[in-house]
Amino acid sequence: AAPTRYEAEASPAVCTGAIESNWAGYSGTGFCNADNATGAHVQFTVNASAAGAATLGIRFANGTTTSRPAGLIVNGSTVQSLSFEGTGAWSAWATKTATVQLKAGSNTITLDPTGSAGLPNLDHLDV
Ligand code: GCU
Ligand code: CA
Repeated sequence: AAPTRYEAEASPAVCTGAIESNWAGYSGTGFCNADNATGAHVQFTVNASAAGAATLGIRFANGTTTSRPAGLIVNGSTVQSLSFEGTGAWSAWATKTATVQLKAGSNTITLDPTGSAGLPNLDHLDV
């Protein structure tokens, strides 16, 4: 099936920072510019029709040349560490994929930065 898109700027997503639209190329109406700090997280609430493996597509931009690592937390458990590498410009968006296990119904998916630079700019999550 086609993925469902969850925009970082749209409720019920949580953006620990500011919703902005000053860099082109985002989907929806903007993106989350999270605070540049460890723990300045973004959280999505996604629905799964059945329990099982799901592929996540996380669209981001990192206009620096330094990766911004983050824990991928599903329903409160850290399941992976993701490295959001530089994309060349803040207006150059890339999609990082990860496969996680979801439960049927509502799930929380959190990106929790482990470095002091925080997260890259986050556009959306496809599930
Ligand atoms: C710049 C850029 C922001 C970005 C920030 C960062 O200020 O304009 O969009 O979030 O750098 O380093 O995180
Ligand atoms: Ca930022």
